[in-house]
Amino acid sequence: MTNTVFPALAFEPDAQAAWSCPSNIALVKYWGKKAGAVQWPANTSISWALGDLRAQTRLSYRKGIEPGSLEFFLDGKRKESFEPKIRDFFQRVYKDDSCSTALREAIDGGSFRIDSSNNFPHGTGIASSAAGFGALALCLADLQQQWDTQRPLQMDLASRWARLGSGSACRSLYEAPAIWGLHPDVAHSSDDYAVPHTGAVASSLQGWKDCVLIVDAGEKSVSSTQGHALLDSNAYAQVRFEQAQENLGQLLVAFEKGDVESFMEVVESEALQLHAMMMVSKPSFVLMRPGTLAIIEAIRAFRSETGAQVCFTLDAGANVHMLFSPVDENRIVNNLLPSLLSHCQDKQYLCTALDRGPEKLSS
Ligand code: DP6
Repeated sequence: MTNTVFPALAFEPDAQAAWSCPSNIALVKYWGKKAGAVQWPANTSISWALGDLRAQTRLSYRKGIEPGSLEFFLDGKRKESFEPKIRDFFQRVYKDDSCSTALREAIDGGSFRIDSSNNFPHGTGIASSAAGFGALALCLADLQQQWDTQRPLQMDLASRWARLGSGSACRSLYEAPAIWGLHPDVAHSSDDYAVPHTGAVASSLQGWKDCVLIVDAGEKSVSSTQGHALLDSNAYAQVRFEQAQENLGQLLVAFEKGDVESFMEVVESEALQLHAMMMVSKPSFVLMRPGTLAIIEAIRAFRSETGAQVCFTLDAGANVHMLFSPVDENRIVNNLLPSLLSHCQDKQYLCTALDRGPEKLSS
């Protein structure tokens, strides 16, 4: 259990739980939802944990006080604008089959206060919802376990609940690469929750790092949720979903064989397919910026000149995730990275390890 400092409370909670949870970066992307459930993915995705980019969240519960009240504090300041989304999230958990009677009674009959903070700066364009919903889902699963010791806290339950907040959040629950969505090559894969990749990962694909180059720190013009919905009317959607399934299979083979070339090819293709789908949506939208393309070209040029094991991926935004092997860390950090910073807003970037999962905190 890690020690943390959350703000002191003016009341004595009846129950409390605190967790820290990383954000994650998809290698094969989730883009498009299946009908029939809350956030079922149209294809399988796989991600690495952004181990050092984390949310720390404490959930405090009071019985019988202002039933149904929920307050959210970010860095000690009340953020009422976030509360409707969190209320919806609690209602989705409430309706989920795996929510216990005790947790339902608590949601009906008590008040909750959430204190959360991210350890990465705001205004960097880095989505905090995956880390935030991951941590909050863990806190709820922890309370459920405190009230019903017959139900041990299981990561697949927390992952299932995190999905109800934001799809990609369900992949933040594991230290190992996380796979979400049914796939014939992955035993126990599910649309309901992510599972840790239990197959072999050759040493050449272990210990990789990510430097996130902040090209645009602003709000995205189209949210991920809106972007997903546009797939329903996108003529290329079915082909994209099939390619994602194939890419996932290829990536798992690359992990097993340690085939870095094939890994980098799949990862870059996935990033570009994601943005291609945005461009061919109706209405079309482009989230890349000139700096995004300049960085992509520079990474590819450095790789072809030096043979360094470095590639890029993209989120639903302009920022570039530069993924690289520890074998080449020195030359990438000393030679390549400085040359990319002129394309970054205020020269901002954040580097992280990719193998640290959630941690229980003392509240
Ligand atoms: C491009 O999980 O943010 O990052 O389920 O609507 O909350 P909702 O969407 P979200 O979508 C993330 C999309 C992505 C790719 C990925 O993380 O797989």
